[in-house]
Amino acid sequence: MTTTNCPYNPFDAETLEDPFPAYRQARGGCPVHHFTEQEPGFYTAFRYDDVAAIVSDPDEWTAKYGLSPRFQRGVGFNNDGPEHRKFRKATVDSLAPRNLKIVEPEIHQLVDELLDDMAGATSGDFHEMFAAPLPIGVIARLMGITGDLGHFKKLSDALMEEGMNNADSDGAGFRRVLAELNSYWAEQLAPRRALLSGVDDPNTGHLGAELPDDIMSRLLLFRNDDGEALSEFEINNTLMNMLLAGNETTTSLLTNLVWRLLEDRSRWEAVRDDRSLLPSAIEESLRFDAPVLGMFRTSVEETELGGMRIPAKTKIMATYGSANRDPEKFSDPDEFRLDRPRGEVLQHMAFGRGPHACPGAPLTRLEVTIAMNGLLDRFPGLRLDGVSERITPFNFWGRRYLPLAW
Ligand code: HEM
Repeated sequence: MTTTNCPYNPFDAETLEDPFPAYRQARGGCPVHHFTEQEPGFYTAFRYDDVAAIVSDPDEWTAKYGLSPRFQRGVGFNNDGPEHRKFRKATVDSLAPRNLKIVEPEIHQLVDELLDDMAGATSGDFHEMFAAPLPIGVIARLMGITGDLGHFKKLSDALMEEGMNNADSDGAGFRRVLAELNSYWAEQLAPRRALLSGVDDPNTGHLGAELPDDIMSRLLLFRNDDGEALSEFEINNTLMNMLLAGNETTTSLLTNLVWRLLEDRSRWEAVRDDRSLLPSAIEESLRFDAPVLGMFRTSVEETELGGMRIPAKTKIMATYGSANRDPEKFSDPDEFRLDRPRGEVLQHMAFGRGPHACPGAPLTRLEVTIAMNGLLDRFPGLRLDGVSERITPFNFWGRRYLPLAW
């Protein structure tokens, strides 16, 4: 067993700007790294097989202390075993392809509206004009949000800022947003609770009849194997997690994909002229520029990985962004290739793996396909119009500013 470490700092300016060269170096020389320059320190796993092993084995690597470098009390999705499966069961159905059919026409409508707005100008920030508002509009529809969407968007932005971008703060801002969000959920849930008060034997058979078929109704109607409903706290936490998990990630996929296609316009032109390449372009973007660079787990007992001894109760980042560039798994991993064999590109772990694998993947693929077809049709001459900037959280990857002209 070796205890050697190599120089790697996920927070230095060069690594933040482009983490992939540092990942490449680490995979070669120190596949598991110990970062000690903050409290608590944490480990990072870079190789595909190590990342897959960590996130597939909750007995050895638990999610119950949260998915960030900080230790948090596990609630909702941030748990293992039956307690975690309860939340999967309560939500996966609403995100399953057969239910997405219901919202598909509305996604088309939202995309068209945003493209119409873009058509009123000749240049602008793609993040602000299209990539950020689209996922928020879609999740609002899926959840069943009614009334002023502007307020929902403001709360969602504040949650992103405090929940992800501001991970180093003392958490006061996050608690304030959470309190605001909880009163918002209470207002939104009240009409459904009123409808339910007249219903004997609440179950999902009432969806689309007494209650609208959306995520909020499904959470209210959910019963576990013992017939117990979710508590108000659990419902609020699930709604918050869906907002956090689904918005910025989809926005990042849209900005990353458009950025890489336009960086070398022959890629954009190839996809524009042959739409059968679009699914490959989407998967290659997820592989090449994973919007979630890494998520944390905690060791249950002392263990060894990649030649490193890792003590019990220690945080480790499973680096999906590095696993997706591992030459043991992908040929020419640092090349963005539209002709990568499908069987190979689909091995990417951008949506995670194991018990916590992303339930939002079918929605993401549907939404981004509709969005890209709309963009390619309406703005065939789309081009980069300046230098873009990355989003701030070190373990997420997307463009927060992407100037384009059309
Ligand atoms: C490009 C878009 C997306 C990416 C790259 C992405 C990525 C991920 C990843 C990597 C995980 C696993 C985290 C872990 O290992 O702990 C995850 C979990 C999750 N995602 Fe996504 N996601 C995306 C879109 C969405 C959408 C649209 C939704 C829902 C509206 C969503 C909802 C969730 C939820 C609820 C979880 C937690 C699942 C669990 O812990 O069991 N995601 N996502």
